[in-house]
Amino acid sequence: MQRDTPNKFSPTTLALHWIVGLMMITLLAIGVFMVETKAYALYPWHKSFGFIIFFIVLIRVFWRVTNGWPTPAGKYSQIEHLLAKVVHWALILGTVFMPISGAIMSTMGGHGLMVFGMEIVAMNPDPADPSKVIPHIAAIASFAHACHSWLGYLVIAAVVLHIVGALKHHIIDKDGTLKRIFGAKI
Ligand code: HEM
Ligand code: HEM
Repeated sequence: MQRDTPNKFSPTTLALHWIVGLMMITLLAIGVFMVETKAYALYPWHKSFGFIIFFIVLIRVFWRVTNGWPTPAGKYSQIEHLLAKVVHWALILGTVFMPISGAIMSTMGGHGLMVFGMEIVAMNPDPADPSKVIPHIAAIASFAHACHSWLGYLVIAAVVLHIVGALKHHIIDKDGTLKRIFGAKI
């Protein structure tokens, strides 16, 4: 399989970056929107795509671990290297732990897990009132809920920094960083 070179990213890196990146931005936006506006009809879609992304993320992490990180497209200060590293790790860990915390919150909370209508984990309805559910382990569900919310806002901040950084490379440094992630040879 083709590997990254300093002046061109492989098709695998590009496909994984953009599939995961665009799905993450959509899931973050839908997550905040559906909670703020109580749009319960969006919950099954959020959960289904959130579940699917996890498997693409695992392939991406495997690809990063076996291929190493891309070489920087230019020469930067140590502080910039450090910032880029912290943000990339926050993004990678966010993509791993958002689906995990979401799935734990739903399943431990008794809501079960349906993926595009297919039951992965059954609901735990309250026999006294079947419109309600009984949590399996309420403490774990609420801890996972808190993680999902806080981590969500942390990942949004990391994505903003990441995009600002990419634009800074393009507009101020005028290097090939942004062009390279769109598949160009630099
Ligand atoms: C419009 C949105 C985005 C733009 C313009 C963008 C741009 C870039 C650029 C220019 C690089 C190359 C950095 C380098 O050369 O070292 C990069 C790498 C990376 N991006 Fe993004 N990105 C976007 C969205 C995202 C999102 C939403 C995520 C994750 C949730 C993400 C995760 C990463 C990671 C982990 C890397 C490191 C290289 C890799 O693993 O492929 N990006 N991005
Ligand atoms: C990468 C994947 C995911 C991302 C980026 C993501 C992101 C988010 C965000 C940003 C929120 C809003 C948090 C808030 O405003 O408090 C949210 C809410 C939620 N997410 Fe996710 N999520 C993902 C995966 C999942 C999965 C796999 C599930 C369940 C199987 C899930 C279930 C939920 C639920 C139930 C809520 C609403 C919680 C509430 O009503 O307070 N998410 N998500």
